[in-house]
Amino acid sequence: MGDHTVTTAVLSEGHARTDDLSIWPASTTRLTHGELAVGRVPLAEIADRFGTPAYVLDEGEVRERCRTYRDAFPEADVLYAAKAFLSRAMVRWVREEGLGLDVCSAGELELAVTAGFPPERIVLHGNAKSPRDLEAALRLGVGRIVIDSPSEIARIAAAVGAEGSQKVMVRVVPGVSAGGHDKIRTGTDDQKFGLSLTDGGAQHTITRVLGQPQLELTGLHCHIGSQITDVKPYLVALRRMVGLMSRVRDAHGVVLAELDMGGGHGIAYRPGEPALDLAALARRMRAELVEGCAAAGLAVPRLAVEPGRAIVGPAGVALYRVLTVKHTGEKVFVAVDGGMSDNPRPALYGVRYAPRLVGRTSTAGPGTATVVGRHCEAGDVLASDVELPGDIRPGDLLAVPVAGAYQLSMASGYNLVGRPAVIAVHEGTARTLVRRETLEDFRNRDVGA
Ligand code: LLP
Repeated sequence: MGDHTVTTAVLSEGHARTDDLSIWPASTTRLTHGELAVGRVPLAEIADRFGTPAYVLDEGEVRERCRTYRDAFPEADVLYAAKAFLSRAMVRWVREEGLGLDVCSAGELELAVTAGFPPERIVLHGNAKSPRDLEAALRLGVGRIVIDSPSEIARIAAAVGAEGSQKVMVRVVPGVSAGGHDKIRTGTDDQKFGLSLTDGGAQHTITRVLGQPQLELTGLHCHIGSQITDVKPYLVALRRMVGLMSRVRDAHGVVLAELDMGGGHGIAYRPGEPALDLAALARRMRAELVEGCAAAGLAVPRLAVEPGRAIVGPAGVALYRVLTVKHTGEKVFVAVDGGMSDNPRPALYGVRYAPRLVGRTSTAGPGTATVVGRHCEAGDVLASDVELPGDIRPGDLLAVPVAGAYQLSMASGYNLVGRPAVIAVHEGTARTLVRRETLEDFRNRDVGA
């Protein structure tokens, strides 16, 4: 993954940095005239053929990342977290690569099942499951429902019926703070997810679930946060989860067979940023699990992990056309034909991206520019103070790597700009996975008069 040689020797330092392809899909190659190809398809060709903004998804990179997980976690279940990005093709790739799926709504669940994903390999999450979520889960035969609130126990039991049965897990808050931003830290008691280890909420919920004959408690779940680049918080959380499993055995004589440690595996958005070391995570979680269980006299449960971002993030490239370049005082604003409606992440989490000019070479020296979107607010910034060629101009193409996760899945209808198309590239061919949203789509939903 991402093993590119950068020819730093012949380039100035500025060029070396902007020409760094280490965070791009492994299939990325340099062509002549400043062009880049991903999956053997030139990006400028995609822009011409499919229009912009376009989200380019490298099928080979997604599949390779799935395989890397399977290889790193041979004894665990790897469930792709659909919230990062979902489409029918994605469902197929993940299924063919042998992963399971984590969904958090009837929408994600129905899309996956109607695209052929086996329901028994799907886990349903959510801090507030709607009646429709639960109805779809039971109707389609979802593998596990993760209980996030005591009130769900009676609801699920009643919906299952006296004769029925449903496998469930309980989401536990292990009291570990980790994650790339406050808004995506979920391992401590001051946020809405899960049941607390420290106030006894988790233990109480487990006791109640065990008292419901229709509910089969297969194990425990935790998800401590997202964009985590260090292994340690996972080990601390795992130790606490094993401790709880051992107390459940002591209190109820029940040995839980499964432990789902969630996702959150961090990736680099810019060259040189840290990423979670997957091999180390897998090795050290395994060692911690085996040791902890031996010390507690517990049978080793089956482990599960739920990566979303690390599977699809680096496989996506966002492609924009420059519409205007404005010099104001000290600043250069490069405005493109997308923005916060396709990528709210800089505005929400202060994430920094590394856009790059593609489709032509520039002989101009590097300059500092702020890439902004076309939406009607000043916070619509895609990348502030980045290095771009000094002669950047309208009509140019900008590509933003590491765009595959939580951009399209969080896209909005703001300003009726419409959500971009998703184009899959693979071995020299490009095809539309999700078509661009059009005025027709807006008009169709707008049924009032
Ligand atoms: N499992 C559960 C229960 C989750 O809530 C999540 C993410 C995942 C797995 C996958 O986490 P990942 O491996 O993708 O980090 N919109 C934010 C990220 C929110 C993550 C929500 N839950 C962002 O753009 O950074």
